[in-house]
Amino acid sequence: QAGARQRTRSIQVSASVAQMEGFTVKSVPTKPIEGQKTGTSGLRKKTKVFTSENYLANWIQSLFNALGEEAVGKTIGLGGDGRYFNKEAVQTILRVAAGNGIAKVVVGKDAIMATPAMSALIRRRSLYGGLIMSASHNPGGPDEDWGIKFNYSAGEPAPEKITDKIFGFTESILELKLAELADVDLSKVGTTRFGSFEVEVVDYTTEYFDTLKEVFDFPALRAFMTRPDFSLVFDAMHAVTGAYANPLFVGELGGKPDSIRNGVPLEDFGGGHPDPNLTYAHDLVELMWSDAAPVLGAASDGDGDRNMVLGSHFFVTPSDSVAVIAANAQAAIPYFKDGLKGVARSMPTSGALDRVAQKLGLQFFETPTGWKFFGNLMDADKCSICGEESFGTGADHVREKDGMWAVLAWLSILAHKNKDVPEGGKLVSVKDIVMDHWKQFGRNFYSRYDYEGVESEQANKMVQHLEGVIASSSKGQKFGDYVLETADNFSYTDPIDGSVAKGQGVRFVFQDGSRIIFRLSGTGSAGATIRLYIETYTDDASKFELDAQEVLKSIIGTALEVSKLQEFTGRDKPTVIT
Ligand code: G6P
Ligand code: ZN
Repeated sequence: QAGARQRTRSIQVSASVAQMEGFTVKSVPTKPIEGQKTGTSGLRKKTKVFTSENYLANWIQSLFNALGEEAVGKTIGLGGDGRYFNKEAVQTILRVAAGNGIAKVVVGKDAIMATPAMSALIRRRSLYGGLIMSASHNPGGPDEDWGIKFNYSAGEPAPEKITDKIFGFTESILELKLAELADVDLSKVGTTRFGSFEVEVVDYTTEYFDTLKEVFDFPALRAFMTRPDFSLVFDAMHAVTGAYANPLFVGELGGKPDSIRNGVPLEDFGGGHPDPNLTYAHDLVELMWSDAAPVLGAASDGDGDRNMVLGSHFFVTPSDSVAVIAANAQAAIPYFKDGLKGVARSMPTSGALDRVAQKLGLQFFETPTGWKFFGNLMDADKCSICGEESFGTGADHVREKDGMWAVLAWLSILAHKNKDVPEGGKLVSVKDIVMDHWKQFGRNFYSRYDYEGVESEQANKMVQHLEGVIASSSKGQKFGDYVLETADNFSYTDPIDGSVAKGQGVRFVFQDGSRIIFRLSGTGSAGATIRLYIETYTDDASKFELDAQEVLKSIIGTALEVSKLQEFTGRDKPTVIT
């Protein structure tokens, strides 16, 4: 039957049989390799594991086995974050794709394609799916990490029913179908044909920028960017957004070339850890707290889906960022001119967005941690903007979080708020915008404590203990200074498909809206990471400028007491505070 389809297709594209036989497919015996379990962010391992014999080919073959007949004759996208091994991996993936009847692969020039750009490419070109070679914000290089994930037809990360199937095939695989193809030159845009199989190397900015142009008012942004009293510094952290930042901020929007820092993607990200937060984007943070601070500072991660936004001497928490964007979207961003369909945040993200939803009368959703939970809401037209505390912000223009989108959203808000400020007048700053937001909605003081590398058994015991506390607690009970409203282990029923996700984090919600949340990270690689999220709320404007750590001191003490964290883990302080 597959043969019949192949023949039909060859007639449709009027390729001759000779061209169909433009390459040979070899059947190569292989053996299952343990541990190729794909999470929703794909398969992530040390690079050396991936470069060892058949490791990558086995997984790709298993992917095509899982997709089966459905993928035959289809076109897929391929690209990555610029890390070490991506270019070699492309050649292997092309051979397995051709060997399994894929008709065409659209590859980003130099093997580049940011995660949100792949989502845009899939959607705009109606591709069957796309492969992204990235380990996100993990360091890259021969001794660091590599990773790959598959996104499906709406541009969203493959659902569990597919990733489970892939894993199943990795456990039983015995054969690779490898097409014998010469290496494709990835440095030049253009099409290479191998009989019925086609490889198109494309400019990785085209579809992505076309999508961004539909969302934002580029001429207005350009006018603002070129104001002499405005300045931007974007730190690409030597990762994939380096390939986009210059054409976008300088080329399209007229920014100064020195607005871009660390703007050349490097295979090892310059030896850095491409995660945009106060710890790893250290140079940018230093600049933003110096006298030379620009009006807007921003950074993005390895594959361009995360973002951090800063003003002069001011850090916008991701939880506040999504709330401010949602509150200003209709006025400042053309794509949202008819209002928002709804908004969503992950459970541990602060309640700042809830207050915006309430005031604007928007549908609101609280989902478990993980971008995949937003996809169904977006496909059902229930959510326009969403965000997570883990430096992820985005909208329904694609099905991934989008770092550059977040920067353009802030740029749009700044441009909008300053439209009546004459040159030389006092610009409305990032800090002014957030302070003004707090005046309208109140401030959610927020912090996250991470305890990394805890022994799994100890972490699990602490969670069990917390389950016990939940079970014996009751409404009105006092926890330190706080009066309990509810306590539970968060569970989510998807309003679209009815699927249920249980055990998504232990939370104590107090009567004044303060919250204590404990969760085990789902993305760690060694042992367990305990995340403690703490939040309190105030609408007392005299307190808005207080330091979050000071304000949260007492509730953090309560959280540590209730959880007996130190007793269970032996840790007297977190490894990271954000
Ligand atoms: C990835 C996912 C996010 C998630 C984050 C933190 O970046 O794409 O959706 O919020 O990991 O996950 P963790 O389980 O480590 O807290
Ligand atoms: Zn990422």
